[in-house]
Amino acid sequence: MRADIVVLPGDGIGPEVTRAATRVLQAVADRYGHHFTLSTHLIGGAAIDATGDPLPPATLAACRAADAVLLGAVGGPRWSDPQAKVRPEQGLLALRKGLNLYANLRPVQPHPVALRASPIKPHLLAGVDLMVVRELTGGIYFGDKQRSADGASDLCGYTVVEIERVMRRACELARKRRRHVVSVDKANVLETSRLWREVATRVVAEEFPDIELEHQLVDSMAMHLLARPRDYDVIVTENMFGDILTDEASMLAGSLGLLPSASIGEGRNGVYEPIHGSAPDIAGRDIANPCGAILSVALLLRHSLQLEEEAVAVEQAVAQALDEGALTADLAGAGLSGQPAIGTDATARAVLDRLCAPLCAVQLRD
Ligand code: IPM
Ligand code: MG
Repeated sequence: MRADIVVLPGDGIGPEVTRAATRVLQAVADRYGHHFTLSTHLIGGAAIDATGDPLPPATLAACRAADAVLLGAVGGPRWSDPQAKVRPEQGLLALRKGLNLYANLRPVQPHPVALRASPIKPHLLAGVDLMVVRELTGGIYFGDKQRSADGASDLCGYTVVEIERVMRRACELARKRRRHVVSVDKANVLETSRLWREVATRVVAEEFPDIELEHQLVDSMAMHLLARPRDYDVIVTENMFGDILTDEASMLAGSLGLLPSASIGEGRNGVYEPIHGSAPDIAGRDIANPCGAILSVALLLRHSLQLEEEAVAVEQAVAQALDEGALTADLAGAGLSGQPAIGTDATARAVLDRLCAPLCAVQLRD
């Protein structure tokens, strides 16, 4: 298969973890005989420095023309002056909106090694397999923002269509899983949440009668997510609740550095990025965990290129590397392997070795 993939390294640890991820992508191409054309473009703070714009028109145009986009992270203290007119994060939000990527998929499946790195008791974590579907192009992130001398406001709005389409995505995913969807809102307080609940109930009743739907208020969901994470399958929620709940859910997996995400819309194109931020404090030191970025490659292969076998191979290679103790400081620091932490590049190497192992074995036999 041929595919054009845009790479947006961004800021902080973005370039390091993206380098690791593109090496894996290239290895997949070599092993399976695909031809991926990668082109790198500017986003975030790096784009502000170079052009004054966190999402230069050339970047958006390249992303629109691509089959998929692989992104590192954006942001950093250099660009976070509260008075600043442009911020790196605006580039990411404009990209999501510009490509109409309204559904953000954040799977959480704690790896056995990482279980011990989690602050949650291991017996609560075994068997956890969640898919959080976060609405990504609506709500308070994109509502009108006002600032006056003595106050500020952010408008949270949702249309019926915006809720329907993300709900359908969540239900379609649930059909391939355990057919259980929890819709999270704050319907006891917010009007947008009352609409959300109404639409969720109707979509499931009319179009997905085989799906079991449960509603949860976001505050109690935050609690249940830690107390009984095994009870959940697909969790669907609005933009900001999803942002917060997925950082919380990452602790189930032991480290924020392990979790990938896929942002998708109606077409095949999507943006794939680790859920972690740019971590400027550890940038450029070869200590960042590249697994979230590498696992984002697996999601890219699965959702944009429909290469399921290749996606599973990447996921298995990461799992095996972790099993065998290839742990960056965020995981090894928890005393998991009894071995010293390895760096970003070495972790990528460990994954590449596992990814190529079956092929190398065949070549050796030949
Ligand atoms: C995320 C991030 C972003 C968000 C930031 C960087 C704008 O936290 O992808 O979860 O809030 O969506
Ligand atoms: Mg976030």
